Amino acid sequence: MNQSGRTSFATKFGAVLATAGSAVGLGNVWRFPYMTGEDGGAAFILIYLVCVLMLGIPGMISEFIIGRHAGSNAARAYRRLAAGKAWMLIGVMGVLTSMIVLGFYAVVAGWCLQYLYASLVGQLSGDANYVAAYFNDFTHNPVMPAFWAVAFILITHFVVVHGIHSGIEKVSNLLMPTLFILLIVLVGASCMLPGAWRGVDFLLNPDFSKVSSTVFLDALGQAFFSLSLGTACLCTYASYFSRRTNLAKTACQIAIIDMLVAILAGLMIFPAAFSVGISPDSGPALIFITLPNVFREAFASMPIVGYIMSVLFYMLLALAALTSTISMHEIGTAFFHEELHCSRRIGATIETVVCCVIAILCALSCGAYKGLSIAGRTLLDFCDFLTAQILMPVGALATCLLIGWFVPKRIVRDEFTNRGTTWVKVYGIFLFIVRFVCPVCIIAVFLHQAGVV
Ligand code: PHE
Repeated sequence: MNQSGRTSFATKFGAVLATAGSAVGLGNVWRFPYMTGEDGGAAFILIYLVCVLMLGIPGMISEFIIGRHAGSNAARAYRRLAAGKAWMLIGVMGVLTSMIVLGFYAVVAGWCLQYLYASLVGQLSGDANYVAAYFNDFTHNPVMPAFWAVAFILITHFVVVHGIHSGIEKVSNLLMPTLFILLIVLVGASCMLPGAWRGVDFLLNPDFSKVSSTVFLDALGQAFFSLSLGTACLCTYASYFSRRTNLAKTACQIAIIDMLVAILAGLMIFPAAFSVGISPDSGPALIFITLPNVFREAFASMPIVGYIMSVLFYMLLALAALTSTISMHEIGTAFFHEELHCSRRIGATIETVVCCVIAILCALSCGAYKGLSIAGRTLLDFCDFLTAQILMPVGALATCLLIGWFVPKRIVRDEFTNRGTTWVKVYGIFLFIVRFVCPVCIIAVFLHQAGVV
């Protein structure tokens, strides 16, 4: 319990790991590598880094301030901090965004479960055409993708109903270290392959000729997605932080862990891909079509190592996805539980049912029912686009405006500095960034996307 009588994470370490677990996910191991592959390698990474530093960290701190100060679910938190009721809509929008994200995210997480199973039973060991056909057949199947997506949401539900301490914190304490170990093993194996340095070079040497106008929006969207910003997730988790937690330091720690995992994921994928001459710019299909070929060809002389690599890789993906889906689920669970005055179990059940429906529709849109598309995109792609490139940046923009201009400065200062006891000198810089830099940058990127500037 924290001072306000609300359940809280038992330890600071647990709080950091759980929140880092939210940040680290398919965004790092799936989205970041394919975007880096498409958008010019190191050049994209540099732009991404600037987005994380200038917008990501201040945005995270802003959400933390709202969540910890209010000590409640996101909708109520936004309403409590600002005078106007309209701000509550931003919290509600965050809850809705997180439901859409959980819906489509569970589909990709479900693909990982299928691929974990397929790797275990040796179903992925055919030539390139076979692997491409395997992905196509699987995603066009009317039952299996939806089945795995629902299974993933049910596993998430099982963790969340056990509560903050016995469910979320315990599972994060176990999964996050496991994830790191898996990642290090895979990076080691990939970097030892002959010709691996070309992949490392691709990741570390910027090629600015590939930087087109959409790269900035991609990098911004990726920063928001990867740091779980603009979905009320950080706000909800911060409501379980203790009063002594240093919010700015925690945000920096999480951004560093998140960046580290993304770079390590790149160091796991690109060296292996380049060593067998496979181009890494195949988009979202990178880890489901390109990588099985990479594993097979790179370890052709040692098939057992290829087998183990493949199993560990899909296990890593599934675990990373789980720590994130848990955090998305908690947003809605806390919301329904507190706003509908029902038990946590019922709140979690409502969240599960709604997200399962979204997930089933997204899963079917990928192949079985092509009619489920919006604006020329499959429902799954559309949900990804809508959340990462519109709803999350809008949520983050509103959060920065709220903290920078509308919440009484005394509250912001007290939360940022823990009542004047830490990081007092940095407070002014933080306030300047959330008042001016973040809103201007986010709006500029939007205008640029709309073709205005
Ligand atoms: N940050 C997660 C990832 O990188 C995704 C996420 C988005 C989690 C929104 C929670 C809320 O995979």
